[in-house]
Order: sequence, then structure tokens, then C-alpha cells
Amino acid sequence: MNYKIALIRGDGIGPEVVNEAVGVLDAAAEKFGHSIEYVDVLLGGCATDAVGKSYPDGTAEKCRACDAILLGAVGGPKWGPDKPADQRPETALLALRKDLELYANLRPATLRPAMADSSPLRRETAEKGIDLMMVRELTGGIYFGKRDKYQTEDRGVECTDLMAYSEKEIERIGRRAFELARLRRGKVSSVDKANVLETSRLWREVMHRLAKEYPDVQYEDVLVDNCAMQIVRDPGQFDVVVTENMFGDILSDEASMVTGSIGLLPSASIGDTAPGLYEPIHGSAPDIAGQDKANPMATILSAAMMFRYSFQRREEADAIEQAVDAVLAEGWRTADIAKPGEKVVGTKEMGRLIREKLAAL
Ligand code: IPM
Ligand code: MG
Repeated sequence: MNYKIALIRGDGIGPEVVNEAVGVLDAAAEKFGHSIEYVDVLLGGCATDAVGKSYPDGTAEKCRACDAILLGAVGGPKWGPDKPADQRPETALLALRKDLELYANLRPATLRPAMADSSPLRRETAEKGIDLMMVRELTGGIYFGKRDKYQTEDRGVECTDLMAYSEKEIERIGRRAFELARLRRGKVSSVDKANVLETSRLWREVMHRLAKEYPDVQYEDVLVDNCAMQIVRDPGQFDVVVTENMFGDILSDEASMVTGSIGLLPSASIGDTAPGLYEPIHGSAPDIAGQDKANPMATILSAAMMFRYSFQRREEADAIEQAVDAVLAEGWRTADIAKPGEKVVGTKEMGRLIREKLAAL
């Protein structure tokens, strides 16, 4: 096959980790007889520096002309919350997700076998294994609702952020979750705050409707505060966790942390038609940018997800994941996941080791 991939290298360590993922994509292409063409797309703080705004005109169109998008990371202290919205990297990321209607964000939190003792959880809890898929609604809810800021007569300034969800939005993300559960261990946990929020009550109603359509999938409702607790108490109980945008933002960070290695976790943002967006869940780590210290594995595993979810090529995805696991099993680590005495390598060397493994599989 011939694939066209948009590369958003971004800020901080973004360009370094994207480089290594591109190396692995090329190695996979060679191994499996594909050709890949890359198109650079400018977005984030680097775009603000280059052209004055973080989401340059025509970005969505450029991306739409590709089969998938690989993103490193965006953001940094240079473009903080005090900057106008159109100069902030976060605005660009939200706009891209919205413009391409990438409503389903898949964030696997997996404790990779070689990393079992890196989890901050008690050994007997971690040993049960962690392999959950957070399915976060990505283009609705409070992150996209109407905002307001106004002066009141007696309470000073007041702000509001509106959380809105429609049946249609809930149903399409719900379906994704149930379909995914069928390919995994057959369980969906739907997270809401139905004891307080109207949007959550609608969420629950729609999920219950869907659960009837998928009788082969085990279903449960979990309140968000309880879910936060269960993720540290016994994450092994979860298979697919589906939730609205803000809850998913917070819980996916928590779930990643219990695996002990945020530098290893990929993500996919997909819609019904537009190209999917693949990115590590970690940030741009400006403190180590340009020092060949960043862990490229999460971006490399994002490339594996690209093969799996955008190109429907399971073999390539499995091979990349196997190569990563093999390198970890041999004891190679980047600094972020190394324990005293382990073999520490830089970004480039880690990329090379994974490419080599992949070719030799
Ligand atoms: C994430 C990030 C973004 C989000 C920010 C940077 C807008 O936290 O991808 O989880 O909240 O979606
Ligand atoms: Mg987040």
C-alpha cells in the first residue's frame, strides 16, 4: 500500500520523538512492502513563532489530504495561558480535533510485561495486570461549550463554562466503546456523574439503550469519583472505560500513571471519515527538549495504533509492539523509565534499537 502521513512535529521534544517514529514507520513499510509519503504540517507553539498563530489557515485541509496524522507534542511555557487564544498551542489541538471531527479518543493504559515493577501500585495489585482502554469523548462537553466572563453587581467578575451533550454525540462514542469491547475482553464501564449532572443522566440513558443492543458485552455504570478511586485500587477490573471529555482527560492521566510509565503510552483520535490523529499522551517536556533524552516509545506505539486503527493492518501494528516489548525485555531504557543499574540510552539509540528489532522479527 501507499500511505500519506501528515507529520505535526510540534514543540519541545515533539520533533525528536517524531523522528524516531518516522524511522520505525519506514522500517515497517520496508518489512511489509508499503511506501509512505510524509507531509509536514505546522501547528502549535512553533507555528505561533513562525506565522503568528498556533493553528495556521489551511491546517485542517492539509491534514484531510492525508491518510493519517502523527503528532509529537505541542505546548511550552513560552506560549502560556496569558497569551491570546490564537497563539496558544492547546487551542490549535482542540481546533484540529473539532475540525476533523475526531470525536473518539482511545487511550490504552497498559502495563507492559517488562515494566511490571515500575507501577507505583502494590505488587499484588500490579501483578493482576493492567490493560484498559480509555475511550474519551473528544469534541463535545465542557471543553467546547459556550464560555462567558462578565462583571456582576455584587460578586465581582463571574465566569461560566457550559457543558452540553446531545444524544447523537453520546451514542456515537458509546458505539465505539461497545465495538472495541467486542474485540477485547467484552466489558464496558461507562463513567458519569449521574447523581448530579443532567448531561450525565442523558449519558447514562443512552448508554443503557446501547447496552441492550450489545447483550454479549458486559456493562456497568461507574460514578466518576468512584472510578478515580478504583483505578488506583484495582485497575485490572477495567477493560473499556468510556466517558465524556473532561472526565476522560483527567482519568486517562491517572490511568497512565498507574502503569508507571507515561513515556510508553500512545493514543488515537478517530472520527468516522477524517484521517485519524495519533500522538503520545505525554507532553512536550521543554526541560529536556533537544538533549536526546526523550522517550520515543509512546510515539512509536502511536504509529502502531495508526496501522491498527487507520490502515486496518494488524500485522504491522503487532510487529511494532513486539519490537518495543523485545527491546524493553532486553533491559534497554530511556532515562524517564530507568531504575538504578539499568541500561540507559538516548532517544536516537532507542529508536535504532526498535528499528533493528523490527527488521529482525
Ligand atoms: C490532552 C491534553 C489536552 C486536552 C489539552 C492540551 C488541551 O490535556 O490531550 O489530554 O485536554 O485534551
Ligand atoms: Mg490531558
